[in-house]
Order: sequence, then structure tokens, then C-alpha cells
Amino acid sequence: QMVKVLYSEKNIIKTFKIESNKTILDLSRIENIAIEGSCDGSMACSTCHIIIHKDWLAKLPKPCIDEREMLSLLPDYTENSRLGCQIVLTDKLEGLQFSLPKDI
Ligand code: FES
Repeated sequence: QMVKVLYSEKNIIKTFKIESNKTILDLSRIENIAIEGSCDGSMACSTCHIIIHKDWLAKLPKPCIDEREMLSLLPDYTENSRLGCQIVLTDKLEGLQFSLPKDI
């Protein structure tokens, strides 16, 4: 099963497909999106900071306390901020759209 994900960069939307149950960090590595992810998904770095499109925010599972804590430390935190390594792409998220903080 593949999940469609939309990535917007400087107002250009790119569409990707990825196997379900991979994360946005996984997607960035496959598709060369510039997300650092230096702790490889263990919620210890927040260099996988992404911005979820407002229409999708409420459809995501809520961030756990550790993710919330990491997010709260970000200087460029927004209401739509999440850690890309914690967003698991399931078929419920078909069409999810995100961008990087520098592009909003
Ligand atoms: Fe480090 Fe997501 S990769 S917190």
C-alpha cells in the first residue's frame, strides 16, 4: 500500500508516494528533502522540524509529551509544527501536505 504525500516548497507542490507506515523523515531521505534528522527518530534533536498544512493538523495523532517538549524548545515553533520522524504515513493520511519551516 502506497500513501500520497504533498510537499510544498516555495509555493511549488511536489507529490510523492511512499509505502505506508514510513515516517516523513523516511520520505525525506528517499526523496532528498532537506530534513536533517540527526538523531534518526529518537526525539532527541528536533532537526526534523516540519510544518503540517493546517487542513491536516487535526487528522494527525496528537504529539506525545516528549515530542511536545522538543517542539517547545524550537525558536521557530508554530502551531503547525511537528517532528517529521514522529509522523507515520498511514492510508488515513493519504494526501497529507507539509513544508519546511524555512519555506513558510
Ligand atoms: Fe531527531 Fe526527529 S530525527 S527528533
